[in-house]
Formats: sequence, C-alpha cells, structure tokens
Amino acid sequence: MLGNATLNSDTASHSTAPADASFLPGPVLLLGAPGVGKGTQAQLLVSRYGIPQISTGDLLRANIARGTEIGLKAKEIISSGRLVDDALVNAMVLTRLQEPDTARGYILDGYPRTLDQAMFLDRTLAELSLPPALPVVAVNIIVAYEELLRRITGRRICPSCKSIYNIYTNAPRLDALCDLESAALIQRPDDTEEVFRERMKTFEQQTAPVIHHYRGLGRFEEVNGDQPVEAVLAAIESTLLKLRAAGR
Ligand code: AP5
Ligand code: MG
Repeated sequence: MLGNATLNSDTASHSTAPADASFLPGPVLLLGAPGVGKGTQAQLLVSRYGIPQISTGDLLRANIARGTEIGLKAKEIISSGRLVDDALVNAMVLTRLQEPDTARGYILDGYPRTLDQAMFLDRTLAELSLPPALPVVAVNIIVAYEELLRRITGRRICPSCKSIYNIYTNAPRLDALCDLESAALIQRPDDTEEVFRERMKTFEQQTAPVIHHYRGLGRFEEVNGDQPVEAVLAAIESTLLKLRAAGR
C-alpha cells in the first residue's frame, strides 16, 4: 500500500524500487518520539526490502476497530497518552514475530518502548532463534518538539489502506480523500495537542531508557528526521547498510 500517497509533492519522485535482493535487512527497530516519522519510513522500507512493518500502535488500533478484548483494554489508555500493558503488547509481538513473512527481517515500529519490553524482545530473540539469525539494529529518529506537535496535529490517515498524510506537508490530491482509496481521511483520536503532550511525557519517562539501552549495545545510529521524507529514508538506508556491513 506504500506509494506516492505517503510522500509529499517534493518527494514523490523518490524511487521505491526494491533494493538489492542480496541485502538481508534483519530485525530493524525504528525508535523515536510520537510523530518523528516511524510509520512513514517503515512503509517506505517495506516497499524497498519486502519485509513487514510490525507497528504495535497499528495492531492495537486494529483491535480497537474490531472491538476485541485487547481493543477494549487499549482504547482508553491510548486516548490518555499512556502505554498499554507490557504483557499484552509483548504477547502480541511474540505472535507476530513467528509468522513466516519475518524470515528476511522486519521493521519494529513503536516497539519496544519500555525497558521491560526491550528485555523481553532481546530474550525472545535469543531463546527462540527465529530467522534471520542477525542481531537487531536500532535507528533513533530525532525531530524537535514544536515540529512534532505540528506533524501530529496535521496528520490524517486513510482508515482503509493506512496511508499517512499531513495537511501541511503531504496533503492528499483531493481535499480530505485518500489518493489511493478515495476514502475520507480521518484524524487519530490521540492526535490532539493535549494528548500529544502526555505522549511526550510518557516517551521521556519510559522510552528514553530504551534508546539508552540500544545505544549501549552498539548496533545503533541516530538520524535527523527533520528533513524531507526521502532524505530521511536515504539516511536510514545508509545507516542500515553500515550497521550490517560492520557485522556487529
Ligand atoms: P503509535 O501508533 O506507535 O504512536 P507514536 O509512537 O506516538 O508515533 P506516531 O504513530 O504518532 O508517529 P510516527 O513516528 O509513526 O510518525 P508518522 O510517520 O505517522 O502508538 C500509539 C499509542 O499506542 C501509544 O501512545 C500507546 O498508548 C500505544 N502503544 C503503541 N505501541 C505500544 C507499545 N509498544 N507499548 C505500549 N503501548 C503502545 O508521521 C507523523 C506525521 O508527520 C504524518 O502526518 C507524516 O505525514 C508527517 N511526516 C513524516 N515524516 C515527515 C518528514 N520527514 N517531514 C515532514 N512531515 C513528515
Ligand atoms: Mg506511527
């Protein structure tokens, strides 16, 4: 579902042709605050490398939409800017990691975001020896607070294909309609200024230690997310090539 719909007009020329098939991306963690562009970049990397995006936020929202037990538990927590229980999220990720499409790698978007989740992931990958037999590499995307607020409040998404738009930087061709699906775009209920400020507090308190953890392990790089989408993608790709070439 990737496509130019996820890109703003000045980036629409970016090639999303598959990357060199011999490159094995392995497990990739996209880390960063709300609105840094994890989802946008994950969708592009899916298209480049043919590996799945595993977004815990998307999985939780799908549960909310289906009215499942998980969804009922998650709905109020998400709309308050807090984090859903580690045990629940870990179980969801464990199930997803064991699906066969992860064999060449996967992009974890928005997970892990507590130290408990990070420990669970590290332990799970070590114990289960799931393919591919490569260590995780972590990319931390950085964007300043005020720009994040603008991105979050300007974001619109397609409820059908999940394409990500922004009324300021990546507007759809037709007002408020998805370029691909023609569905009416929606705003996430947690994309208000008030909830954003709570999400940022949660990020500083609970997710910053996760970033510190992966920085300490060494297979870690930071990327400036305050550049055009295609420049961020290029920075992430060169980071992945560098980290994998180093074989650390
Ligand atoms: P989640 O859905 O993961 O939200 P988040 O981490 O707050 O991140 P976002 O999805 O808001 O931002 P993004 O980085 O993906 O940015 P995007 O690419 O969309 O989690 C939501 C909630 O679920 C959490 O608060 C929590 O309650 C719960 N949850 C999820 N995972 C959990 C976990 N592991 N444990 C516990 N609870 C969990 O881009 C944002 C906007 O910016 C878009 O409009 C886009 O078009 C625009 N944009 C992107 N890149 C650029 C660029 N380079 N230049 C200009 N604009 C850009
Ligand atoms: Mg996201």
